[in-house]
Amino acid sequence: MEKENLKKLEEEENLLSAEVRQQINHWIAKYPPGQKQSAVIPALHIVQAANGGYLTNELVGAVAEYLEMPAISVCEVATFYSMFELKPVGRHKLSVCTNISCQLCGSDQVIAHLRKRLGIGFGETTPDRRFTIKEVECLGACGGAPMMMVGRTYHENLTPEKIDQILEALK
Ligand code: FES
Repeated sequence: MEKENLKKLEEEENLLSAEVRQQINHWIAKYPPGQKQSAVIPALHIVQAANGGYLTNELVGAVAEYLEMPAISVCEVATFYSMFELKPVGRHKLSVCTNISCQLCGSDQVIAHLRKRLGIGFGETTPDRRFTIKEVECLGACGGAPMMMVGRTYHENLTPEKIDQILEALK
């Protein structure tokens, strides 16, 4: 049993670098002792960023081990929130809100313009792996509808011209 635990620990350490573990520890320290699992969302963000923008089953499992949670619980978090990816994405993730305010204010035109300009639709990545377009629910910026998030930056009151400027500014 001891041997098995050591092996698990070793595997987890291989998947989560020392730097990643240090960053997760920073979040764990914000919660009362014995409440490690409260850091699950920041931990998944950290691990995803360190893995080039997406999570694998193994990484989800390693986070679960590290936070002493059932793997299924971490999996539930990773699959519930749209900010987590379970397959590779492009360098820039364009999360387009299609919820009611954005829809009423023209998210259809936003999507049509992105589709025309990049040649891809929702859930797809350009062949040069620069862009991925994702459909998301309300991002809480309804007053600036239609909007999209590029990486972690909000862009509001989108027009085709504004979208072109945003895309051109991205490397
Ligand atoms: S409906 Fe789009 S941000 Fe709220």
